[in-house]
Amino acid sequence: MSLLIKNGTIVTATDRYVADILCEGEVIRAIGHDLSAPAGAEVIDATGKYVFPGFIDPHTHIYLPFMGTYSKDNYETGTKAALVGGTTTIFDMCCPSRAMEALDGFNTWNRESAGRAACDYSYHMGVTRFDETTEAQLREIVQCGVSSFKIFLAYKGAFGIDDTELYRTLKLAKELGVVVCAHCENETLVAERQKELLAAGLTGPEQHHESRPPRVEAEGVHHLMSFAELTGASTYIVHLSCQEALDEAISARQRGVQVAVETLIQYLLIDKTYAERPGFEGAKYVMSPPLRDARNQAVLWNGLRSGLVQTVATDHAPFDFVGQKPMGKDDFTKIPNGIPALEERVNLLYTYGVKTGKIDLHTFVNVASTQAAKIFGLYPKKGAIALGSDADLVIYDPDWRGTVSAANQTMNVDYSGFEGWKLEGRPSVVTVRGEVAVRDGKFVGTVGRGKFLRRDCRPA
Ligand code: URP
Ligand code: ZN
Ligand code: ZN
Repeated sequence: MSLLIKNGTIVTATDRYVADILCEGEVIRAIGHDLSAPAGAEVIDATGKYVFPGFIDPHTHIYLPFMGTYSKDNYETGTKAALVGGTTTIFDMCCPSRAMEALDGFNTWNRESAGRAACDYSYHMGVTRFDETTEAQLREIVQCGVSSFKIFLAYKGAFGIDDTELYRTLKLAKELGVVVCAHCENETLVAERQKELLAAGLTGPEQHHESRPPRVEAEGVHHLMSFAELTGASTYIVHLSCQEALDEAISARQRGVQVAVETLIQYLLIDKTYAERPGFEGAKYVMSPPLRDARNQAVLWNGLRSGLVQTVATDHAPFDFVGQKPMGKDDFTKIPNGIPALEERVNLLYTYGVKTGKIDLHTFVNVASTQAAKIFGLYPKKGAIALGSDADLVIYDPDWRGTVSAANQTMNVDYSGFEGWKLEGRPSVVTVRGEVAVRDGKFVGTVGRGKFLRRDCRPA
């Protein structure tokens, strides 16, 4: 299997140049000018197009039993949607309930993904309780190639862990060289505020952000940072949404705490007024942490530009507007949390980030691909265009014009939070380890070819 991509403008986190790329088997074999095609190779003319390293979404929930229901995608629909949008690797959150053993959770996610993934994937292993059994099982799971944990300081009684569990998880992570991803919101503040709002008869989707204001998130970050400082663990704050929380992360980083920060395409582009839309429409925009006041968007874009924020993810958690979101029709605390975006993350970031001049092309590649590969131990196999790297490539057409619509999306969910948004560019060809998986917006790859990526730890 050979593929020669001619005359594309190669853009990585650091470089931009016009050249040919020869892929042989699963990897990039040569980069240069006037490369000739081996017999039988497919040749793609990429003149006038960008060639980016495959994009990486470090935070998805393809399979997620949550709030009394299941997220709508499965590994087939979710990874096809990822590829159509230019994402060639995902990190899915393996989130067993507190009642479930960690290994049972790991095995469940393996069963869900087996034979169904079209793009490559890894997991962040959810630590939703921590006892001696968990510890032994986590050690085993790490040996299987999962070098990151996921913890929740929110979702009291469901995924949330207490402080003793938090401390022990971070100690173990430090010992093993595992990165700990954390959902930072103070669960007690959330629970108390939810009760107060409901008692006052305030039940609509627009109450969701009232129950979890920025200080709730900032307090979660502050809390995690104290524990990280005292254990020396390496941390990664998922879905950071606001200035107050970022300030806490930066101040900890200045004290020497190891912390990387992820924001989401949703927080960069949409604000809390979406969740205030009349009727029950706002339920489409209920996620946690909630959408924020628009002033935070400039803070997050600045963070990306200046390197204070490392990655842009989706936290893709698709729940139908009809049939699932209405579980919280009379009580906002029961609306399944999540705004799907896996398919559109890259195009939205390009259109509303690069094209508007908020970030440059290198920052775009860095925050949507390279940084995730570096932080989570996949670089330079992923996140790079270099000899020997996996031939995960996105040939991107900056002249394509289109509009986001649930009517023609690949994601298995009945709405788009970005319905009607204009797009100025999309992938015209996407490859996964040398195989063409997308042409002109259509999936043409192989379901089941996506592989689980083993990742090594970095013990101190
Ligand atoms: O609202 C969200 N974020 N849903 C998915 C679960 C989580 O917190 O990551
Ligand atoms: Zn979360
Ligand atoms: Zn999440």
